[in-house]
Amino acid sequence: MTNPIPALRGHSLLTLDDLTDAEMLALIDFAEMLKVEKARRSLRAEHRLAGRNVALVFEKSSTRTRCAAMVAAHDEGAHAEYLGKSDIHFGRKESVADSARVLGRMFDGILFRGFKHSTVETLAKVAGVPVWNGLTDDAHPTQILADLQAMKQYFGMLKGLKVAYVGDGRNNVAHSLMHGCAKAGVDVTVCAPPELSPGSAALALAQAAAKRNGSRVAVAADPRTGVLGANVLYTDVWVSMGEESQFAERLKLLRPYQIDMNLVRATGNLENGRVMFLHCLPAFHNHDTDVTREIGALEVTDDVFEAPFSKVFDQAENRMHTIKAMMVSSLT
Ligand code: CP
Ligand code: NVA
Repeated sequence: MTNPIPALRGHSLLTLDDLTDAEMLALIDFAEMLKVEKARRSLRAEHRLAGRNVALVFEKSSTRTRCAAMVAAHDEGAHAEYLGKSDIHFGRKESVADSARVLGRMFDGILFRGFKHSTVETLAKVAGVPVWNGLTDDAHPTQILADLQAMKQYFGMLKGLKVAYVGDGRNNVAHSLMHGCAKAGVDVTVCAPPELSPGSAALALAQAAAKRNGSRVAVAADPRTGVLGANVLYTDVWVSMGEESQFAERLKLLRPYQIDMNLVRATGNLENGRVMFLHCLPAFHNHDTDVTREIGALEVTDDVFEAPFSKVFDQAENRMHTIKAMMVSSLT
């Protein structure tokens, strides 16, 4: 199978706005094909990125994004080089722009995870090779490709579904999810306290996409009414990387937004099997982390996280298929 989306050849993905609605949906379908292909173990015949090199530049820690990119590149015959915060001069002894130009001379593509969104923009502007955003403070576009793939796997279609995101409505995942859902014709309601409501620019971008696709973007302060009719309940951590000093304040604001079985029932879709739970992970759903040892579950209760309708590990696996789809469509 060759690249089914040749229009993306040479393209970067900094936000979902870098894809047309049709390209985004085609990438999700390509990822599903790659999943089937991997299951059939026909990888040796399909080294689409043989001889290529990709740099993984990470300022923040990661389990899924890093491993997804490493395995995706390896499956396609490419070499992936992980460059962590203290491995390269990037922005410390050398400007981001200078490091980017060096990386662009040596690598065929760069996946970046970090803090300021302007850093990934600089990379894309000067590196001369495709740059992919593996999460910045503002956006997490590759996550949303995997999320939409998980929804399509569960329901068989996307258009017409209703997603309720519950929690920190102004973080990278919430903003990209609103946008991705709207681009796919999926209704999305962000349930968040007014202090953590989506940013106005992100909301306007999602609303414009929803208008094109006949879907709806809404914001609700009350989670009980906001989740009514939802097919997908989605949450993320209450404190994103880099915001650790706000932990106590966030707990106070977001306690009423924990997803528990009562909230799942409030969708009205538990009995008819038309609801699923998603979380980009990592998640605080029990006592088994350093953060939750004393206080227990935060954004989701353990019974919801472990329920049969929770598809968080399908979603995590999809990170690999979607990042692979993105690398192959950008580089071949
Ligand atoms: N969901 C996600 O991006 O996970 P990591 O932080 O482990 O990469
Ligand atoms: N909003 C979270 C997502 C982690 C994948 C963060 O930025 O830490």
